[in-house]
Amino acid sequence: MKLDPWGPGQIEDYAKLRAEFGLGVVDKATWEGVKDPSPLFEREIVFAHRGLEPVVDAIRKGDPFGVMTGLMPSGKMHLGHKTVIDQCIWYQKQGADVHIAVADFEAYAARGFTIPDAQKLGLEEYVLTYLALGLDPKKAEVYFQTKRSRVKDLAYRLGLYVNWATMKAIYGFEDSVRLAHVNAPLMQAGDILHIQGTDLGGPRPTVVPVGVDQDPHLRLTRDLAAATRVFSVTETKDKKIGVFVKPEKPPRDVKTLLGDVEGILRRDLGYGDLKRNDAYRAIYVGGANPNDIARIDLALGQYEANELGEPGHFAPASTYHRFMTGLVAGPDGKPGKMSSSKPETAIFITDDPKDVEKKVKRAVTGGRATEAEQRRLGANPYACSVYELYLYHLANDKVLAEVYEECTTGKRLCGECKMQALDLTQAKLKEIREKREASRHLVKEIVSDQ
Ligand code: TRP
Ligand code: SF4
Repeated sequence: MKLDPWGPGQIEDYAKLRAEFGLGVVDKATWEGVKDPSPLFEREIVFAHRGLEPVVDAIRKGDPFGVMTGLMPSGKMHLGHKTVIDQCIWYQKQGADVHIAVADFEAYAARGFTIPDAQKLGLEEYVLTYLALGLDPKKAEVYFQTKRSRVKDLAYRLGLYVNWATMKAIYGFEDSVRLAHVNAPLMQAGDILHIQGTDLGGPRPTVVPVGVDQDPHLRLTRDLAAATRVFSVTETKDKKIGVFVKPEKPPRDVKTLLGDVEGILRRDLGYGDLKRNDAYRAIYVGGANPNDIARIDLALGQYEANELGEPGHFAPASTYHRFMTGLVAGPDGKPGKMSSSKPETAIFITDDPKDVEKKVKRAVTGGRATEAEQRRLGANPYACSVYELYLYHLANDKVLAEVYEECTTGKRLCGECKMQALDLTQAKLKEIREKREASRHLVKEIVSDQ
């Protein structure tokens, strides 16, 4: 399987993808002990993660954590794009500060947009809808990549830690690729890591909710976070000893650094059994286990940032949501993902109600060839783009269970099911459109001018 951030692909087998890329499972159990888990998690629309544990931990303890995501303004916003903002809003309610990049540079570099066009689309299509959906401007900021010089600056510096062979291996770039495009992933890494600047909250758990096609960027970013660190924290080979801390790139005299670290481990984190080895430039933390690595790493990241003036980047977590399936199949007869470049596959937030009606009526379902057959055998909601509308956006648990039960037992026919979905979609879109108009005055509040 290949993940291409700029490709058209729809994923066929999410469990296989998780296994192949070594992603963690996100399901109901992930959020045990967290108040009001989002239906997106319970319904496994968000189905995988990398390194999410410290974020869940921060939520449970009420500790600060950040959310960073971005949008590429290369088309109109559709229902498939709503998932990410639903998550941001949920995280906000859990106490997060939210940062959103309008990737105008990426649209320029990878999609051939002009910067003004990309910015206009970003504001009109996305930011306004985000506000309409309930994103709280008091705990969120939106910025443009082209306007934030510290992101560009960081992107440039991060280029020191990655070479062409790696970029080619991750992204499959051809020799003909433009360097502006090659730079886009570094820009995105800059987006993700810069929110750990001391003035924006410092090193802390952060989560990046994105579609799974973005995983290559996250792998790169997590590697870059580690590469810019002073200290590494790893499990010792001898499992009995525990964890071991080593300054990889000491900016100061190693003895002083190790002395400081000893203090942090003992005083702040409560580890009594420390063995300092000056010759190996390392400290062995007895009694620590691999589950402690994150908290030690975080404390040292904060020390790097606050005391050493280093970035101290704490590895960002990511979560991956499924793509909504297009309402109609592609030219090859296979279902693709809902896509702005194929308007017949997508319901846009600002679609005219007449278009919405046409699209839902034409949508591919999991129904049987004849009514009699469907009454007898039931239909397949898992192969149905209309069911996805309910699942992602339209139904509470009760309604969803009803649709599922009636569909699979043949009590419900696709025609009537579509009419119900259509009514609910129209009502939802009407509400969003009204709120969009009522939110215009908030744009200034949420969008940063740099
Ligand atoms: N590349 C992302 C996309 O195509 C947009 C993006 C830019 C982004 N910067 C980001 C996503 C930072 C997450 C975090 O949609
Ligand atoms: Fe889809 Fe509804 Fe038909 Fe079931 S009855 S296949 S959910 S349209």
